[in-house]
Amino acid sequence: MEIYCVIGDHRVANSASPLIHNAVFSYRSVESLYVPFDVAQGELKGAVQGIRSLGIAGANVTVPHKETIIEFLDGLSEEAKAVGAVNTIVRDGQSLIGHNTDIGGFRDMLEFSGFPIEGADVLLLGAGGAARAVLWSLLDHGAGNVTVANRTYEKSVEITSKLGGKPIPIEQAKDALLKTNLLVNTTSVFDESECIHFSGLAPKRRRKPDNLAFVIDINYGHEKNFWAKVAEKNSAKFMDGMFMLIAQARRSFQLWTGEDISMDDYIIPLDFSDEF
Ligand code: ATR
Repeated sequence: MEIYCVIGDHRVANSASPLIHNAVFSYRSVESLYVPFDVAQGELKGAVQGIRSLGIAGANVTVPHKETIIEFLDGLSEEAKAVGAVNTIVRDGQSLIGHNTDIGGFRDMLEFSGFPIEGADVLLLGAGGAARAVLWSLLDHGAGNVTVANRTYEKSVEITSKLGGKPIPIEQAKDALLKTNLLVNTTSVFDESECIHFSGLAPKRRRKPDNLAFVIDINYGHEKNFWAKVAEKNSAKFMDGMFMLIAQARRSFQLWTGEDISMDDYIIPLDFSDEF
């Protein structure tokens, strides 16, 4: 039996990745198991060594380790190197190579949505590991102006100077929204009570943005989602991150096993047939 895992912090307990991968193993009658590990920052080096020495067949990496794990790996794919974030570890003998399937997962999601990304003005919220993958994917797809707003301004300066796009202080996000076609939330916040920095994005009487057509929140599985409310208040369409999660899982599985399973064979619990 082969063992796969996802490493994150305590939030890994809420990850849907074990569910998705174990369902695919069972559906394909593969004798493998996928387990979550809660790893503290100071234990990350030891955890990577554990993956090596215990013969773990492959791993995912989630918040908050996507960037800090890099120094403990033996190599990186081109994309992971370019964005500076890893969400998938592939074993090559005793070497562990970092990949980033969030990039392809976000690309798959954009294509599925049918949103016309070429030349579109995008407001990207967040500047962590996931934001890097999404920013890369957006620019690679020919997005027009991509503006990045993050609670810690310096981090948005850092990712835009490396990858492209324009940083703005978070207080300017509500004005930037007026010129935005697509809003993407990559921060880990989704509950209204945590979204104080973003309250101005769900207008009451304020002028609504004319051009905002689509809101994406890369978090998933939350019935009460502040970003869905932002979409509703601005009369825009909304997608959460479930499709992206499944798409990146499919791409990780392909890297680990060489098998290309179609998206149709993954259960996709969403309906997004509206045209833009
Ligand atoms: P990931 O790998 O999923 O991107 P991360 O690297 O920990 O996770 O990044 C989390 C992102 O959510 C960051 O952009 C973070 O902002 P800071 O850079 O200022 O920390 C953002 N974030 C987390 N909690 C937030 C909050 N309460 N309000 C606004 N942004 C928040």
